[in-house]
Amino acid sequence: MKTVNFNAMKDGTREEYEFLTEHEIEYAAKTGDRLLDALVKLDEGLSGYKITRLGHSLQSATRAWRDGADTDWIVSALLHDIGDIYAPYNHDEYAAAILKPFVREQCTWVVEKHGDFQRKYYAHHVGGNPHARDKFAGHAYFDDCDRFCERWDQSSFDPDYDTLPIDFFRAFVAEVFARKAYEPSVTRPGERVPLVDPDIARERSGASA
Ligand SMILES: [Fe+2]
Ligand SMILES: [Fe+2]
Repeated sequence: MKTVNFNAMKDGTREEYEFLTEHEIEYAAKTGDRLLDALVKLDEGLSGYKITRLGHSLQSATRAWRDGADTDWIVSALLHDIGDIYAPYNHDEYAAAILKPFVREQCTWVVEKHGDFQRKYYAHHVGGNPHARDKFAGHAYFDDCDRFCERWDQSSFDPDYDTLPIDFFRAFVAEVFARKAYEPSVTRPGERVPLVDPDIARERSGASA
């Protein structure tokens, strides 16, 4: 079978749907590669800052890695702005939707809400609400999102920072998107992992380029 015979989904057979499922699995396995390609495209977007969105994404992930953060955090930092390409007005939700099946619930929540948390740093300059984050007060991941923004997001616009290249992060991305989607052992509901691990950070600073 090269393609299915049906023109309307309701006319498909079991054999055809089994054939399509195999194709889907093959396609899904390359999600990590496609996301990295998309991240490179971020390099063309949004001018005015001292560094590109790709530079910002890599710098956020580099800071996460240097803080001793785990793989879920590193990949979340790397991809947190990937929604800028197609969803400029809800880029946070877009990125969270991509990550949701493959990372800890904690990281998905933080990526999904980071847009509101970031407003603290600039909204008062443009007539926005710097307290947009207050509606999440008391949430279990509130402090994690605060930390994510303070340490990795708002700080990562520095052209002089020693940012690691995209190739450094390929293995982390491959690992995350090879996981079984929505497995509870992957999404780990309710589990909080600190963003900063001083022991691992120290180890990495010895190994760091
Ligand atoms: Fe963002
Ligand atoms: Fe960002």
